[in-house]
Amino acid sequence: MPKLLIISSTKNSNFDLSKSIKSYIKETKDLNCEIVSLEDFDLPLYTPTLEEKFKKNQSFPQNIEKSKNLICSSNAIIWCSPEYNGGISPIVTNAIAWISRATEDWKEGFKDKPSLICTSSGGNGKNFIEGFRIQLNYLGSRVFGESLIQTKSKEIQKEEFCSVLDSFCKNI
Ligand SMILES: Cc1cc2nc3c(=O)[nH]c(=O)nc-3n(C[C@H](O)[C@H](O)[C@H](O)COP(=O)(O)O)c2cc1C
Repeated sequence: MPKLLIISSTKNSNFDLSKSIKSYIKETKDLNCEIVSLEDFDLPLYTPTLEEKFKKNQSFPQNIEKSKNLICSSNAIIWCSPEYNGGISPIVTNAIAWISRATEDWKEGFKDKPSLICTSSGGNGKNFIEGFRIQLNYLGSRVFGESLIQTKSKEIQKEEFCSVLDSFCKNI
């Protein structure tokens, strides 16, 4: 069964959104679906100096290896992340930086992978969605054209929620 990984940046409203997505997918699709919160990996801040240190010891820490293996072994990814300061939250950029350095080919975790961008943000999250789309496209992901956007004042309508997930899952 194809593996769908749902990655939440936080353990708050984006994690709740991830749980709703997982529960819908479990009910309606034949996919092996898992959620992780990037907060649980507690990855160090990427710096070239720290990478050099890990490479001298000939191993990356376990949590970097674990996040890399999860992403690399998935067939598709749903990202749920808030907009921060008109852009991508640092926890996501940081995780991607480590994964791109811990793999043989820096695109390995992302290339050709169907990917859906979702957000629960204070406002409409558009800057995050657009910025992250550019980043994922650069990494070779096949980014789905639509997104699920929840704001502090607007819930996602059930019809839209189901229709976006149904269409996205057809590509996996
Ligand atoms: C550092 C920081 C910057 C933020 N910048 C934005 C922003 O630019 N646009 C926006 O819509 N919300 C912004 N927010 C609000 C978050 O997107 C919002 O609180 C979101 O629900 C947090 O996600 P979570 O509930 O999963 O933690 C910001 C929050 C923080 C902590």
